[in-house]
Amino acid sequence: MKFPDTEGYFGQFGGNHYPPEVWPALEELTSTYRLLRYTPDFQHDLETVRVGLQGRPTPVHFLKRTTAEVGGARIYVKREDLNHTGAHKINHCVGFALLARKMGKRKLIAETGAGQHGVALAAAAAYFGLECEIHMGEVDMVKQGSNVGRMRLLGARVVAANAGQSALKEASDAAFSAYVEQRDHALYAIGSAIGPHPFPMIVRDFQSVVGHEARGQFLSLNEGVLPDHVVACLAGGSNAMGMYSGFLDDPGVALHAVEPLGTSDETGKHAATLSFGTLGTLHGALSIVLQQEDGTPSQVSSVASGLVYPGVGPEIAMLHEAGRLKVSAISDEEAISTFFRIAKSEGIIPALESSHALAFAIKLAERSPSSESILVNLSGRGDKDVDFVLNHHWDEDDS
Ligand SMILES: Cc1ncc(COP(=O)(O)O)c(C=O)c1O
Repeated sequence: MKFPDTEGYFGQFGGNHYPPEVWPALEELTSTYRLLRYTPDFQHDLETVRVGLQGRPTPVHFLKRTTAEVGGARIYVKREDLNHTGAHKINHCVGFALLARKMGKRKLIAETGAGQHGVALAAAAAYFGLECEIHMGEVDMVKQGSNVGRMRLLGARVVAANAGQSALKEASDAAFSAYVEQRDHALYAIGSAIGPHPFPMIVRDFQSVVGHEARGQFLSLNEGVLPDHVVACLAGGSNAMGMYSGFLDDPGVALHAVEPLGTSDETGKHAATLSFGTLGTLHGALSIVLQQEDGTPSQVSSVASGLVYPGVGPEIAMLHEAGRLKVSAISDEEAISTFFRIAKSEGIIPALESSHALAFAIKLAERSPSSESILVNLSGRGDKDVDFVLNHHWDEDDS
């Protein structure tokens, strides 16, 4: 990968905009990562945990019934929902846990939104015999209660974040402060391809297994022909960067980023950063941010907790500025109806986050010829969302 540069920049975005007292810890992480990552020993241990704990490789699967119903381009999904713990997040969690082991750290710290990253990190910590501390917004703890229970069962300590909106941004603030205090014995396993250097690079590298696997699998399913479109939902960008990594050098493949439009395009009712954001600093990196005039992050909203974040990772911002990404936004309502549709037609309950990508893929398929194909990153399963959707959006007529 050409980016980031030695200062951690992706074009004008990224870098390390945290106070100097954390620089030594981040420099230690950068140099250890660069030293270890491509050694045969690290590769072997990573492959072992990916196969044994995670269940990789995950398949690419053709959505036969949906494609037939829509009548346009063929829709395929990369089944990251089949990962152990239910989402793509575990791809970088096992990587951070292995790094922590090799660095002699005894604890992992992170934030979580929907709870998927927290559960994945708790499982990785248990596998490697590490302590785990997860910060989660109080609002999300109520909405994603089953994931809170799973984290605790896996041995993690869950700490409620109750500042501001009590959601993902506040959880990230709290997790990073905890890391700064405990950096001598703990490693911060950030939840997305965000934050100061080297986190966006490390998360992208560990997530790139998704895109590289998917590319090979798609080619063998389609007689050596690449997809015309690759689609991922977007918050910080871990599932998107993972998927795009396999196709960045294929100019004929359009890369689509699908943002949460929430209930409206009014500030406070969506979390569509690339669509409405501006240049700013968030969580130690220069990127595109949804912010108020004084630079404080805007309130954001989406029915999918994992998409409630007022920024994007720096590499996403660079790809967008370079014109490599096509950006669209999907409303809560569209995501929920796609959640029901895919469950009924395909026997797959997608996460509400992934339902945004699927909803866009269906709209794109409708207006594309049947000769074209679309590959969607089905980033997670919707088990965590079932109670919420049934309690708030289930109509007896749907049964
Ligand atoms: C299933 C799923 N997909 C997507 C996301 C969005 O995060 P990212 O943009 O880092 O992939 C989340 C975040 O929690 C998630 O749980």
